[in-house]
Amino acid sequence: MQNIKNYIEQHKQRMLDELFELLRFPSVSADPKYKPDVLNTAAFVAKKLSDAGADNVEICQTAGYPVVYGEKIVDPARPTVLVYGHYDVQPPDPLELWHTPPFEPTVRNGKVFARGACDDKGQFYMHVKAFELMMQTDQLPCNIKFMIEGEEEVGSDNLGTFVKQNKDRLKADVILISDTAMISMEHPSLETGLRGLSYLEVEVTGPNRDLHSGVYGGAVANPATILAKLIASLHDDNNRIAIPGFYDDVIDLTDAERKAINNAPYDNNEYKADLGVDELWGEAGYSTFERTGTRPTLEVNGIWGGYIGEGAKTVLPSKASAKISMRLVPNQSSEVITKLFTDHFLKITPPFVKVKVTPHHGGEPVVTPTNSIAYQAAQKAIAESFGKEPIPTRGGGSIPIVALFEAELGIKTVLMGFGLDSDNLHSPNEKYDLFNYYKGIETIPLFYKHFTELSAK
Ligand code: BES
Ligand code: MN
Ligand code: MN
Repeated sequence: MQNIKNYIEQHKQRMLDELFELLRFPSVSADPKYKPDVLNTAAFVAKKLSDAGADNVEICQTAGYPVVYGEKIVDPARPTVLVYGHYDVQPPDPLELWHTPPFEPTVRNGKVFARGACDDKGQFYMHVKAFELMMQTDQLPCNIKFMIEGEEEVGSDNLGTFVKQNKDRLKADVILISDTAMISMEHPSLETGLRGLSYLEVEVTGPNRDLHSGVYGGAVANPATILAKLIASLHDDNNRIAIPGFYDDVIDLTDAERKAINNAPYDNNEYKADLGVDELWGEAGYSTFERTGTRPTLEVNGIWGGYIGEGAKTVLPSKASAKISMRLVPNQSSEVITKLFTDHFLKITPPFVKVKVTPHHGGEPVVTPTNSIAYQAAQKAIAESFGKEPIPTRGGGSIPIVALFEAELGIKTVLMGFGLDSDNLHSPNEKYDLFNYYKGIETIPLFYKHFTELSAK
């Protein structure tokens, strides 16, 4: 432990400078105008893996952005850890709400502000630095493989094929991912599940062209009004999702599981104050952590139609649209839910308008085991570096590849994230606390040590 701390202390500044370099690449996978930057980021990651001591580093081409691979096989008889992360980031918009530019990392109050600071550059880069540390201090106890992709934020569409075509190369005993959050640094936690996702776009069309709202208004249905009504009908008075069959496959938690989740430290007033809301909202009968981690939800991610420019325009729009996503829990299937949504939405469409539903990406929910050697190793590592046992929690976000890894490779995942929910992921002023960054670099080698020791027993 002391030699880990010493190494970090000696190389602190350089480890931060390198993270800054990584954060300066605007690797936005959603917007084609950033394509050269995304590709340059992959090259940078490959170089840093090599520099840290990885062998067989390769920028693996896919039908989309490449996957960066690298490995260190110390002894084929030892266990192997596959580290997954993503070097792409979400678009930085709305730019005007950033206090400092999203791709010019800036430290304020001990936190680095930049797009990707926490999700996921700051987090996966901890693994690269922890690997360097283990190589330099001669304490890498087992084999390690890195797989850092560039399309996570757009649904990892090409990763399934990559995994299928590289089953041998990706063979491992466990997958280790830092792309989730802890409750707080005072209450370290380990996520033991992720929600799935079903994402769609709906388009409501009324008249065949935009109309003068005075000339035609009152005689023709306004697609924006109809869309608003349709969307409002998707939740009932208990804020449950009103799509027939939606909850059919949901596995209810046992009383003991619910109790464990509700034992996690949570302050209702702090939660509300942080978000600037007077009251919380959600499915009746469930607590906040249950709602975000264990229950399925439906959200409107965007809604538009008609005139949204400066000033006023009296128009009855021809079309109105919305992007809608549903978070899924075990044992729901994104395919089934997408179909249930589509059928329902078409069924409730009134005759005044036409509706088109277009599915986007999806992903399956997962729960990760808490009785595995790898989970115990993560528990021990965190207990050692934080001085406190981690609390198991269920994460509300989605990492679709986790279910795919399990299905294709038969390998389970440990979600050892060091972010915070308040790190503004996907939002302006994303940040990552330097304390968390260095704490992660300190904890990861301990995971390897415990994982290798427990595997040998
Ligand atoms: N790292 C997040 C997922 C996450 C965040 C999990 C916080 C747990 C806690 C990941 O990069 C992400 O944003 N995933 C997307 C899904 C993807 C298909 C666009 C998400 O959850 O919306
Ligand atoms: Mn992420
Ligand atoms: Mn993300």
